[in-house]
Amino acid sequence: MGNTWTKSDWRSKPRIQMPEYLDEAALTGVTDRLARYPLLVFAGEARRLTRALGEVAEGRSFLLQGGDCAESFEEFSSDMIRDTYKVMLQMAVVLTFGGQTPIVKVGRMAGQFAKPRSADFESVDGVELPSYRGDIINGFEFNPESRIPDPNRMLRAYTQAAASLNLLRAFSQGGFADIKRVHNWTLESTEGGVGYEEYHQLARDISKSLAFMEAAGISGETVDAMKRVSFYTSHEALLLEYEEALCRQDSETGDWIAGSGHMIWIGDRTRQPDGAHVEFCRGVINPIGLKCGPSITEEDLLVLINKLNPDNIAGRLTLICRFGAGEVGKHLPALIRAVEREGHKVVWSCDPMHGNTIKSASGYKTRPFDRVLGEVQEFFAIHKAEGTHAGGVHFEMTGKDVTECTGGLRDVKDEDLSSRYHTACDPRLNAAQSLELAFLVARELQAQNEARARG
Ligand code: PEP
Ligand code: CO
Repeated sequence: MGNTWTKSDWRSKPRIQMPEYLDEAALTGVTDRLARYPLLVFAGEARRLTRALGEVAEGRSFLLQGGDCAESFEEFSSDMIRDTYKVMLQMAVVLTFGGQTPIVKVGRMAGQFAKPRSADFESVDGVELPSYRGDIINGFEFNPESRIPDPNRMLRAYTQAAASLNLLRAFSQGGFADIKRVHNWTLESTEGGVGYEEYHQLARDISKSLAFMEAAGISGETVDAMKRVSFYTSHEALLLEYEEALCRQDSETGDWIAGSGHMIWIGDRTRQPDGAHVEFCRGVINPIGLKCGPSITEEDLLVLINKLNPDNIAGRLTLICRFGAGEVGKHLPALIRAVEREGHKVVWSCDPMHGNTIKSASGYKTRPFDRVLGEVQEFFAIHKAEGTHAGGVHFEMTGKDVTECTGGLRDVKDEDLSSRYHTACDPRLNAAQSLELAFLVARELQAQNEARARG
């Protein structure tokens, strides 16, 4: 990064998907206050995550990124955080075993509050109002007052993110994440379930490995690494007034850090090479994600990579591909070849959610489990054919037993969607669907490893 970048430069670029605040003084009051608040994450942590993702880029690790589509003020509770965290850890253990590699764990948590929308307005029964844009911007409730962007919401989002992160740090360091304990939850949830025989068998294989290690003296009692995990946070850096207020210079190195979360990403709608979001993200040292949807071209991608990772640092940039089941083969091979030809080091991750959203017969936005799985399988198959590393997965999920995505072994049906449909935005995998997917991804990872071992 040249020395000329500043955290406000994005203001001179085209801004899209961001609210126009009507009360300028109120906005400045809030951002001035945020600018004095403590950062939520520190430069050393962001660097550590970049190094961990560098291992992914080099093919020696795998990334698991997941959590809410949109975190909400209303649904916020310690149980909610615990349950999502718990399922992510379970998934990570299954994937570690399948991939025989470390899993880098990144939550869409503690900051995932701002949403890009396809339409600026939403109509219900003939009434048209501005779209909901996430709790950090306006309210979900369908009335004119609630849909007015309110800068004070940024303070509430900051406080919720700080409290969430505090709990996540305690869980990660305080014994909750002990591998044996995490694995026991998986054993319990696969025991006896119809269709779960194969998963339960794999879970028992993991138990055997843990028992062997314990006999050899390696357990949570003796080795810290067995009971502590590194867990990172991430969100879409959409609301740049908020991001700028939490952007600070590291006094030791002079580096700029986005203090709102460990990893930030640029959405598929806001990745214009000359737009505000790319301008902001290119200047901070955090690992950056870039959503790549069907409209991205090889040329766009190469321009973006050069802007976002000019020094070709492995782990700096994660390409989060979201094309839709049946569509990956049309887009991904050309992108992989362009990146390989130019020698760029990137993490390739698969978001099988955002290209697979459909409207169900009952009128709910949903995602069929088979399509989610299908996109992941296509992603792995293409990387295998290209000789590159399928490096990660990116899910919208929750630890709760919601009914938002159809299918899975417990078969959520279209007519079940109304029973526990709680998302403020996109449909999420529930706890059982998330774990099931982890088993299926573990199988893909196993195959990737075996193919590599054969050379
Ligand atoms: C999201 O991740 O919630 C999202 C809006 O994704 P995308 O930018 O890929 O559409
Ligand atoms: Co979403």
